[in-house]
Amino acid sequence: MRVLVVGGAGYIGSVTSEILLKNGHEVVVLDNLSRGHRELVPVGADLHVADTSDTSEIFNILRLTKPDAVMHFAALSLVGESVKEPALYFKNNVSNGLNLLDAMIAADVKNLIFSSTAAVYGEPSGSPISEDFELKPTNPYGESKLAFEKILRWYGSAYPINYTCLRYFNAAGATDNAGECHSPETHLIPLVLDAASGQRSEITVFGDDYPTADGTCIRDYIHVVDLAEAHILALEHMRATGTNNVFNLGNGHGHSVLEVIESARRVTGRDIKIQKSARRMGDPSILVASNQHINKTLGWQPKLGNIDDIVRDAWSWHHKISAKTLTCK
Ligand code: UFG
Repeated sequence: MRVLVVGGAGYIGSVTSEILLKNGHEVVVLDNLSRGHRELVPVGADLHVADTSDTSEIFNILRLTKPDAVMHFAALSLVGESVKEPALYFKNNVSNGLNLLDAMIAADVKNLIFSSTAAVYGEPSGSPISEDFELKPTNPYGESKLAFEKILRWYGSAYPINYTCLRYFNAAGATDNAGECHSPETHLIPLVLDAASGQRSEITVFGDDYPTADGTCIRDYIHVVDLAEAHILALEHMRATGTNNVFNLGNGHGHSVLEVIESARRVTGRDIKIQKSARRMGDPSILVASNQHINKTLGWQPKLGNIDDIVRDAWSWHHKISAKTLTCK
């Protein structure tokens, strides 16, 4: 297949591009490089620097490259930023997404894989979370992703578009060539590794009074390579069946903040100092996916589900960022 990877210079988009190429597919990357990195686009992918606000430019790229499918990763994804600047999130994640959809219809490109998020569930009523749980996001980021899911449902019934929404839980880990490089960094694993490497003096634990065994929040950390492979399975299934689907994408088990820090101590062999602080606003206590639906429908299951494997790959990547002289953004 030839796949247009929109946002293919970002963390998950670049890893998925790499895995697509490894599986013998052709990859065209479209990225405006505002938060992505040219250096992360894998060798063999054809990079077009363009912005999804420019419908005619997207249309031209689609017409020129004639992809079999689009994978849409390009989005803003910081919960805190979304609360302060909702306009930015609705513009980028909804309005620009609509431009992409309209360009796809005009260029007769029928298949779309959309990067959604567990944030569409807000504070869930139980655990593990299945796809039929109530959708009630608690921030503009989750709301923008849910809005686009809803748009896809209506577009899918009116126009010749097939779609799959993948609701990611906590993507983590890396490959030899690509991984996380954000500035500011807000995610737990890279911050814990900064503390392990001495780039920061300690890791702040946000809240130890949650209703969990050790009092810290539980998340479902999924290796980015497992996540990337699910995209390929989802695309093959969508092309074979012509069906539209929504899947959770997580390991199906969770780890607390303290367990992640313990794993980082094992993997790095370093002392990691902890500073306990108040809860971070808007953090649900437990977010763990039920992955029954994707498992039954696509046969997907995680191969790198062990937290130490995830942290080990993130740690290798942590060393490579400086070697690659990447400036995180
Ligand atoms: N945490 C700390 N200290 C830190 C950073 C994080 O204790 O310095 C804790 C958080 O409070 C949370 C856990 O570590 O309990 C994981 O936090 P992350 O910021 O790594 O990830 P989130 O679960 O907050 O967010 C992820 C994605 C979002 C998505 C969300 C779905 O990064 O894009 O899951 O709820 F919206």
